[in-house]
Amino acid sequence: MKRLDDFRMRLGRNELVPIMIGGMGVDISSSDLALEAARLGGVGHISDAMIKTVTDRRYKTKYVKAKQAQYKYNVESSDKSEVKFDLGHLAEATQMHVEKTMSRKQGSGLVFINCMEKLTMNAPKETLKVRMSAALDAGIDGITLAAGLHLGSFALIEDHPRFRDAKLGIIVSSLRALQLFLKKNSRLNRLPDYVVVEGPLAGGHLGFGMDWAQYDLATIVAEIMAWMKSENLDIPLIPAGGIFTGSDAVRFAEMGAAGVQVATRFTVTRECGLPDDVKQEYFRADEDDIEVNQISPTGYPMRMIKSSPGIGDGIRPNCEAYGYLLDASGKCAYIDSYNREVAAHPEAKRISVMDKTCLCTHMRNFAIWTCGQLTWRLKDTTLQRPDGSFQLLTAEHVFKDYQFSTGGQVQRPELEAVAAA
Ligand SMILES: Cc1cc2nc3c(=O)[nH]c(=O)nc-3n(C[C@H](O)[C@H](O)[C@H](O)COP(=O)(O)O)c2cc1C
Repeated sequence: MKRLDDFRMRLGRNELVPIMIGGMGVDISSSDLALEAARLGGVGHISDAMIKTVTDRRYKTKYVKAKQAQYKYNVESSDKSEVKFDLGHLAEATQMHVEKTMSRKQGSGLVFINCMEKLTMNAPKETLKVRMSAALDAGIDGITLAAGLHLGSFALIEDHPRFRDAKLGIIVSSLRALQLFLKKNSRLNRLPDYVVVEGPLAGGHLGFGMDWAQYDLATIVAEIMAWMKSENLDIPLIPAGGIFTGSDAVRFAEMGAAGVQVATRFTVTRECGLPDDVKQEYFRADEDDIEVNQISPTGYPMRMIKSSPGIGDGIRPNCEAYGYLLDASGKCAYIDSYNREVAAHPEAKRISVMDKTCLCTHMRNFAIWTCGQLTWRLKDTTLQRPDGSFQLLTAEHVFKDYQFSTGGQVQRPELEAVAAA
């Protein structure tokens, strides 16, 4: 019986353990988590989602305060078109996070950064260009383009000296999305170094509509593989979404996948950036507690635990401080929903907004608990303490479980001597 360790993922000259930990914003896929994947010979991701609040928290910068002070006069206004990101600060924060991460890297693996196109930041092209260029400048091993079709993203960095040497990949959820991407980029004579094929069971935003349950990852992967063969294309494919055990991963490796991208199993590791009490919520969640809804202002369906405190919350839009989802004309769907509810309840001290959420504020505060569909199985991957809480895992434990387990098994950890998580 094969183990995932019987396979290797080749990305250019790098030969890797075929396990990629997916990007999880905002700082859920922390540097520590990404660095463990690299140390163990695989690929880890940091994320550049809300990078300024991440560096404020991690490295004591003051970017959010400065932006909020600059645009304080606009807080009461529902027109956020003036609230712009300082591109110099954006570059600085990105470089800081990447440099500080890469300076600690050990082992033969790689650390990539997850760059979501849907973070339009009131100037989509300019900000995305700065984000990607700064990450390359600071020595990131690779960039994974996510949450969007990214039809123009390669072109934004085609003049960067590392454009042809850094690993560049994209996440797609259909053959059509991949075809569009390749067509749009054909003039650049630069194929992606890998393609993550993300199915409907993944965490975060989904590349599917509310009919997501009708799709199946293995079918999409097979379709993309057949098309690539017919086109004589040789790009490593990395399936993602609902790959819960080493045996699940082996099935994809045997189909010809280069590796797998996984995330949910790592949300309950010590290195994951979620607060410990939220990790317990992930452990506790049952299948019925998980839903795909449409409250993300991005317009993409998103999967989350139903009891996330951010759902239904009617906080005033906080775009002066954050504003990562403002589109090219300074609009965000949450602002419209919020204004509608304020107008409908003029006397209310606190309103509730059910159809959209202030995703920036709530992701920043870990109050929207986005998760993969198989989160309900996490409780079976560890030990429960007498007080009902669950023992956290180490990233190394979960990584090695994917790497070495067989027969659909999940190896539980050793019982911890100390009661504290
Ligand atoms: C908590 C969480 C946050 C996520 N955030 C992002 C993100 O910011 N960007 C992204 O491209 N994918 C995101 N994802 C998707 C993962 O990177 C990954 O592709 C997917 O969840 C893999 O499926 P699995 O969780 O079933 O292993 C997130 C997933 C989880 C569980």
